[in-house]
Amino acid sequence: MRRYGSVRDAVTGPELISLVEASGLRGRGGAAFPTGVKLRAVATQRQRPVVVVNGVEAEPASGKDRALLRATPQLVLDGALLAAGAVGAREVIVGVGRRGIQEREVLAAAIDARQRKRIDGRVSLRVVVAPDAFVGGEETALIQFLNGGPAKPMFTPPRPFERGVGGAPTLVQNVETLAHLALIARFGAPWFRELGTRAEPGSTLLTFSGAVARPGIHEMALGTPLRELLADAGGATEPVSAYLVGGYFGRWFTDAAARDLLLHEEHVAAHGGGLGARVIVALPASTCAVAEVARVARYLADESAGQCGPCVHGLRAIADALARIAIGEADERQRLARWLIEVGGRGACRHPDGATRFAASSVEVFADEIEQHLRYGRCAAPDQGVLPIPPRGRGRR
Ligand SMILES: Cc1cc2nc3c(=O)[nH]c(=O)nc-3n(C[C@H](O)[C@H](O)[C@H](O)COP(=O)(O)O)c2cc1C
Ligand code: SF4
Repeated sequence: MRRYGSVRDAVTGPELISLVEASGLRGRGGAAFPTGVKLRAVATQRQRPVVVVNGVEAEPASGKDRALLRATPQLVLDGALLAAGAVGAREVIVGVGRRGIQEREVLAAAIDARQRKRIDGRVSLRVVVAPDAFVGGEETALIQFLNGGPAKPMFTPPRPFERGVGGAPTLVQNVETLAHLALIARFGAPWFRELGTRAEPGSTLLTFSGAVARPGIHEMALGTPLRELLADAGGATEPVSAYLVGGYFGRWFTDAAARDLLLHEEHVAAHGGGLGARVIVALPASTCAVAEVARVARYLADESAGQCGPCVHGLRAIADALARIAIGEADERQRLARWLIEVGGRGACRHPDGATRFAASSVEVFADEIEQHLRYGRCAAPDQGVLPIPPRGRGRR
């Protein structure tokens, strides 16, 4: 409150929906959906809605949402409560992954402080711990878990805005989206539009890791060139073979291509990618890229929720093929190319689309490395584990 002013001076209620629409805010949880559209869709349902704050952040290389929850929990809660006021909800549930132990403590203290000051009136606010499964942060998986089921994506329709928690219309928003919303409610749409592009205004948090001097969470205006982010992170510490943009649903950019890349959805999408979970990894040339991507492909196959055939069998076949390529056992490139086309878009959720995008761009960008592996077998460079994978079994289900 010292930094941003009291939430009591903010725009509230239905007026806030128009303000968010005018701001052009888009979701920061992966799909970049216009937040104002979602608020209005929930607000126009007949039943009283529920607000869910998505703080699961199961993407292994991402840390932005947990960083935000630790640094400014009240700003996120302000956003959730303001969103609740805008759509007429009286219940707010904050979903946090099992690995977010510190964040849960910070949130508990923040909620306690709000209750002592009676900031939130009649709106109930609680934290729920969700599994860290990769698909557990997908909105319908989180809703199914909150309804007492497994944290697995559900077949849609109905979409969450129609029927979600307890059968009520449900607004699911990412932690960072709600923090932006809380600032827009205080400072207005023109203020928010001072940064970013016309179609994608504002700033965004990015988790930058790999071969950079200052890895961690960075805040940049949308549309910032990747080379500026790199400078902000103190530059590369060693030669970089490629940059992964968008996390494990994202795509690779060669060092040369990455430097001219502008960090906003439209531009990255024009190059076949997306900002996704806003994870960027600078892969050092000293690690074996083929082994790294084969390991991630296996992880993504293992993280299938096991409900849709093409996702279960296709992702496993793709991971097997990449594993055989990585040890130079068999030239699977033709079969792999076919599967990558066949599996995308064939699931109840976007998991197979994201996983095949990652694998397809790996095959394209690391074509020379793959050729070397097939000719001479496993390379001398070790797999340094630059692309993180959570330990198996711990809190993932
Ligand atoms: C496999 C999968 C995993 C996801 N994981 C997360 C997550 O951990 N956190 C998150 O906010 N959104 C995640 N999403 C996106 C959510 O489904 C949803 O779009 C988002 O929470 C909506 O909030 P936003 O509009 O504020 O971005 C995931 C989506 C998919 C397909
Ligand atoms: S596409 Fe895969 S992850 Fe998504 S619901 Fe189907 S089986 Fe589960």
